[in-house]
Amino acid sequence: MKSIASAPAKIILFGEHFVVHGTKAILAAIDKRVTVTSAFTDNKTIKVNSQLGTIEVPMSSSHEEVESEFRPFVYLANEMITSNQNVNGLEITINSDIPIGVGLGSSSACCVAATASISGLFKEVSSEENLKMSIKAEKTIFPDTSGADCTVCTYGGIIEYDKINGSKKNTDASNLNLLITNSMIPHSTKRSVEKVSKFKEDDEERFSQLCALETKLIDEVNIALKNKDLITLGLKMSENQKYLEEIQVSNDTLRGMIGSLKEISLGAKITGAGDGGCVIALVKDENLDKVPALLGKDKEYFSAKIDTNGVEWEKEK
Ligand code: PMV
Repeated sequence: MKSIASAPAKIILFGEHFVVHGTKAILAAIDKRVTVTSAFTDNKTIKVNSQLGTIEVPMSSSHEEVESEFRPFVYLANEMITSNQNVNGLEITINSDIPIGVGLGSSSACCVAATASISGLFKEVSSEENLKMSIKAEKTIFPDTSGADCTVCTYGGIIEYDKINGSKKNTDASNLNLLITNSMIPHSTKRSVEKVSKFKEDDEERFSQLCALETKLIDEVNIALKNKDLITLGLKMSENQKYLEEIQVSNDTLRGMIGSLKEISLGAKITGAGDGGCVIALVKDENLDKVPALLGKDKEYFSAKIDTNGVEWEKEK
């Protein structure tokens, strides 16, 4: 039997970094997915196949003994094997069309889909249980995660999220035309989050003013989303970018990309940790063919739709 599950990529529309320090963020799931297939084997090993390579370790191995990108899968396998004794081996295969390491939630989507896929071999779990377990799995690589990414990959759509209250589904925003452009500079979320914590330590007063500004901005965004007011949404994206510039997670490449898209977008900003990764812009469909000339050949771009499905399971006998 094979257990197959998939989960969508995500973007952070508003509030990245500040969400780590307790403010709200608004995230959206998008139409790129990772699919994880799990099956029992008789090999007495946990085997993981992905674009990043293959590992095969004895069943008794701890997740701490493997390279970081494989840790969540070995962790999940161990958790499930421990509570289900009669397992002789597991093989987990990851297929993804989500670009890696550029702020589109690849690792969270993998954790959500892997939790659903592996647990699906044993029993059905609720989305809530799946989410809890996938956040634990993600913490094996990124202990400080706010949990926002796994939450939106689980439920799909557009959500508002904060660390204390969790998630709240937002109004339908299917009219959003989002252009996602990849700087092709990989980033380390952990390093960027540490940098922002340092900024906060050095200037507590300004950081708390910025958190208050971000909170006000998100309240205004919620009204704009409800009213399908794209002009205000675009303006709020650009305003949010100013706060991200101030906490120093931007750089010349990202500023250059945002500047280049100015004439065709209602607003643009970094999405995710910054220091590389992707820029999102609110762009009219008819302007999409102008993008290559504006951005240059060395950047990737695609137009994204909001995914409303979240995590999906299927079983193959
Ligand atoms: O770039 P990403 O996808 O790793 O996004 C991280 C978002 C942060 O707010 C910077 C961290 C977090 O855990 O929310």
